[in-house]
Amino acid sequence: MNSILVQTHANIALIKYWGKRNEKLFLPTKSSISVTISHLKTTTHITFNSENKDHILYNWHNSTKKTIEKITQFLDLFRKKYSIDTHFTITTNNEFPTGAGLASSSSGFAALAIGLDALCALNLTKKEISILARQGSGSACRSVYGGFVQWHKGNRGDGSDSYAEQLFPANHWPELRVILAVVSAQEKLVSSRIGMQQTVATSTSYKQWLAESEQRIPQMIQALENKNFSLVGNLTEADWYGMRQSMLTTIPQLDYCLTTTHDVIHVIQNLRKNNIEAYFTTDAGPNVKILCLDKDLRKICTHLKNIPGVIQVIECAATGDPVAITQ
Ligand code: PMV
Repeated sequence: MNSILVQTHANIALIKYWGKRNEKLFLPTKSSISVTISHLKTTTHITFNSENKDHILYNWHNSTKKTIEKITQFLDLFRKKYSIDTHFTITTNNEFPTGAGLASSSSGFAALAIGLDALCALNLTKKEISILARQGSGSACRSVYGGFVQWHKGNRGDGSDSYAEQLFPANHWPELRVILAVVSAQEKLVSSRIGMQQTVATSTSYKQWLAESEQRIPQMIQALENKNFSLVGNLTEADWYGMRQSMLTTIPQLDYCLTTTHDVIHVIQNLRKNNIEAYFTTDAGPNVKILCLDKDLRKICTHLKNIPGVIQVIECAATGDPVAITQ
């Protein structure tokens, strides 16, 4: 095989990951649950490179130095872990705003892990690929799968039991929709890597959130299994509040929300008062992700598009497994 093309999708966490117990191995302080969504697609092309260095083209025109460094570190880790001494040419493109809390690193590192395994004919299991992706970006271990996914926090020091697994395939719940209300496409000021480090070290409400959030894991699995939309939505928002509180009590304070983020949240809360069921969550950025059912999608999108400051409304659903095409 000479080259491989991989397509992955970003995932949005319903029960969040925010904080590591081991920085080097990317081991989380808690388990998390996500849904891999359509529209936030990463396409990565990998070939062997006969030169003695990697050649990385990220989003073709705007490779930032920081991202290139992260990818290079990941390739070094891969080479060391699997005793491989070749270099690679990598072209990777995200079809969505990068670094604005739209989880671009999740699909990016998942695509790299899947592609490197296939190109080097390692025949790793999905679990092993998930563990590899985790070491590029924690959330990437979940984008190795489509549908609804759980990342087990694990307890072992070597990280061998900290990996993701699919809970339900994408077609388990075709009526579920995720709407992205994009309010800014700017790179975030504090990376999630640094932000979560500061939260673990300083937040006074973090421990309480960890305990409560861990209890939500079995509840969320049950709610997803039963397609209990109200419960999935309420658990998602409860977990978001806990993460937000942990961020706000971090020193220095972490607040990724903009005024428009709060405006979107208020619209969602008002829609609920008017019996249109929708629930929100955000990540390390100002964009809002909204859960709803297909029957209410049009009405909700119309409301979102009318909010001043909302620059894009993207309608998504759960999507299937990554695709790898050998060339
Ligand atoms: O793995 P990272 O660095 O992309 O961290 C992602 C953290 C959140 O998006 C805020 C939450 C999550 O579980 O995806």
